[in-house]
Amino acid sequence: MFRFLPLLLVSLCACSPSQEPESAVAVLANTGEPDLSRGEILSLACQACHTLDEGQGNLLGPNLYGVFGRVSASSGDFAYSNALRAAQIVWTPEALDQWLGNPREFLPGNNMAFAGYSSAADRRDLIAFLLHKTGGTGD
Ligand code: HEC
Repeated sequence: MFRFLPLLLVSLCACSPSQEPESAVAVLANTGEPDLSRGEILSLACQACHTLDEGQGNLLGPNLYGVFGRVSASSGDFAYSNALRAAQIVWTPEALDQWLGNPREFLPGNNMAFAGYSSAADRRDLIAFLLHKTGGTGD
């Protein structure tokens, strides 16, 4: 019976697109509400290479404002790898969850030198914070 629980949660989520982004993220780790302040702390590792606010420049990685809902490698002024350009991933919370678990395994040949966050609860908290910080669905 537990085998079907994730499927059920995913379909519940898909049925209500107008829900708060934070609660969509709760589905990721299957363990309740995300902790935004923990997500902010976890994002410090990202901020070594990425700015998060609107209008900020690129660092070693592209600015991430508006990244949710965007196709990968589509921020006009950043020199992405061919791997990320070819991938055409749409950055949903679920896609980001897979990317951040282990970027190198998820997409071989990409240029993001980050080992990954192995804890699903950490990724949930981080992604909830990023949704909040970077303009949610890209609007
Ligand atoms: C050492 C620097 C570095 C760190 C640390 C890092 N990134 Fe990146 N990131 C990059 C680079 C470089 C790219 C572009 C990769 C490519 O072109 O293959 C990238 C790409 C991305 C993209 C795709 C952007 C797009 O426009 O398609 C996302 C999303 C992202 N990073 C999120 C994160 C998050 C969240 C963290 C923190 C957990 C993080 N990154 C940590 C350097 C980094």
